[in-house]
Amino acid sequence: MTDPQENPPGNIPPDLTLDHRTGWPSDLRLLVERYPREVWPTHPNLGELSKFWLGRHDMFRELNGALLQASDHLKEGTVPAEEFRAWFLPRIRFFLQQLNGHHMIEDHEYFPLLTQTEPLLSRGFDILENDHEMIHEGLLSLQDAGNGLAQALAGPADRVGFAANTMSNSLSGFLKSLNRHLDDEEDLIIPILLDRGEMALGG
Ligand SMILES: [Fe+2]
Ligand SMILES: [Fe+2]
Repeated sequence: MTDPQENPPGNIPPDLTLDHRTGWPSDLRLLVERYPREVWPTHPNLGELSKFWLGRHDMFRELNGALLQASDHLKEGTVPAEEFRAWFLPRIRFFLQQLNGHHMIEDHEYFPLLTQTEPLLSRGFDILENDHEMIHEGLLSLQDAGNGLAQALAGPADRVGFAANTMSNSLSGFLKSLNRHLDDEEDLIIPILLDRGEMALGG
């Protein structure tokens, strides 16, 4: 399988892939400049579907932050490794399932409708779709790190420390990437919905 970071699709320059991007370039900021974040909460076109979707994003941010905090505690030795594992593994599994479902709806339903509604921003949706692949890879690595930790628990204490470090480092990298994706996705999509109304999503 090609690496979406190292070999992004032809129309995505490497500096716009998830781990290199620092926000949208000017051509993709077309609508967010007209509808900056400050106006979103009180805009009459911010409907129930948008609020629900933003709420899902907040849930992902919170869960990611909680996972990171827990792995920091493990690294610092303030939580027993076995207790961490029992708490962490079901949550990372839940995270993987929920994010996969969320991305599926975005890739197959929302993005095609929104691209049709605002073709000038279509490159942004290709970039977000590529982000989804990278996020999925990142989640699989996190699951591997969780399994590595489970194996380390059976061995000497210094191996647990090493596995905890690996986990914490992959989580903080992942958290940064996911936050970048969620922020950029909102900056691309919410202004379209405010401009056209939620009918753009078939709502
Ligand atoms: Fe997304
Ligand atoms: Fe999303």
